[in-house]
Amino acid sequence: MGKIFDLKVGGIEIRNPIVLSAMAGVTDSEFAALNAKNAGIVVLGAYNLDEASKAAGKEAAARGRSEFEAGEENGSDIFIHIEKEIEAVKSKMPETIPAISVRSADLEPLLKAAELIKRKNAIMELDVHCRQPEFTERGLGQALLKDESKLEAAIRKIKETGVVLSVKFRTNVVSPKTAAEVFDAAGADILHADAMIEGKGADLEAITEIRNATGKLLVANNSVDDFDAALEFFSSGADMVSAARAAADDAEFIPHLVEKITKYQLETGWYNAPKHICKRGDNRGLAFCCPPVKYCSLLKKIENIGFTPEEFIRLKQNSIKGTPLEGGEDTCFGSLVWCCKGTKPCYYRDEALSRLGIPLAEYMKMKKELSEKILNAADEKKAAVSN
Ligand SMILES: Cc1cc2nc3c(=O)[nH]c(=O)nc-3n(C[C@H](O)[C@H](O)[C@H](O)COP(=O)(O)O)c2cc1C
Repeated sequence: MGKIFDLKVGGIEIRNPIVLSAMAGVTDSEFAALNAKNAGIVVLGAYNLDEASKAAGKEAAARGRSEFEAGEENGSDIFIHIEKEIEAVKSKMPETIPAISVRSADLEPLLKAAELIKRKNAIMELDVHCRQPEFTERGLGQALLKDESKLEAAIRKIKETGVVLSVKFRTNVVSPKTAAEVFDAAGADILHADAMIEGKGADLEAITEIRNATGKLLVANNSVDDFDAALEFFSSGADMVSAARAAADDAEFIPHLVEKITKYQLETGWYNAPKHICKRGDNRGLAFCCPPVKYCSLLKKIENIGFTPEEFIRLKQNSIKGTPLEGGEDTCFGSLVWCCKGTKPCYYRDEALSRLGIPLAEYMKMKKELSEKILNAADEKKAAVSN
């Protein structure tokens, strides 16, 4: 069987969209091999790299939270520890990509880690997520989210090393849209968004907001404890979904998610197809919209991405010229280009597809390509207007 998922970041190919999220003191190479054996990415750490983060870890350990000193147990050099852990993941689970989560107030240790992680062909994850007071009081973890210029400068410098960089953050600290724009502009490759809502599950709208703000690889996190929860994140705009607590509770949880999403991709052709625009889907959902013929949320959406209704109609029609999506005369608007998502039952669409001999999964792949063309055209238009 050929490649099932088309997931690539900075030259690193990822075999599936399931991630083991960092749990300090838990997620080492041994845990990853036992509890996330077929994940796309496993995040190890987080590790403290400099004096400030080590002092914070020591204080947290003194009140019983020894996990905040992960990797420092034997007084060993943290960089040697990280190198060994990457090598262990590569030998125990060669098809999974290791990512290393790190904390440091100083830039130099971050650059040293970046050089090492790049050399090992792994991913670096910057922890701007930790909310323990020992760290935030020192300007570490999520305190960095409120120091936009320092964080942006750090991302730019780290990216100069060429490492593939993920930024892990909570969406309820600052505006997720603004954070996404800052990380994107500074050069981050992956946005790992913990969509936590204090006390009650995950903020799907925050994921959609981030999706609309950036084309970078988006990993959604929080409260994924079954496949339906993962699917909610995927249809809200996530490229990948991560799990922490559920993976710790059950060694079969990540393998279960991988199996289910692989089956879903093979059946539907687009595992993270967006919701329809009228159901608050992200901008990719424009591939499924009817022409703008009545007052509905589509009109605002078209305006937001910089088109008039007439331009939008032409854009969609021109984007599918010469493809099977031109067919479907007997559908509601005379062409499959205006037809809806495959998971929504529609007799006219399915009749047209069957007459044309197009399986539903192929139709969805064509809709995915159409969504990419629409969003590229919107980006080009935005760039032309701002120049
Ligand atoms: C014991 C434990 C330790 C954690 N340590 C870290 C960490 O060091 N760095 C980090 O980015 N997130 C850390 N997290 C947060 C998780 O990666 C994740 O964002 C959070 O638990 C929500 O995801 P979940 O609902 O799948 O558990 C930790 C979570 C737990 C439960």
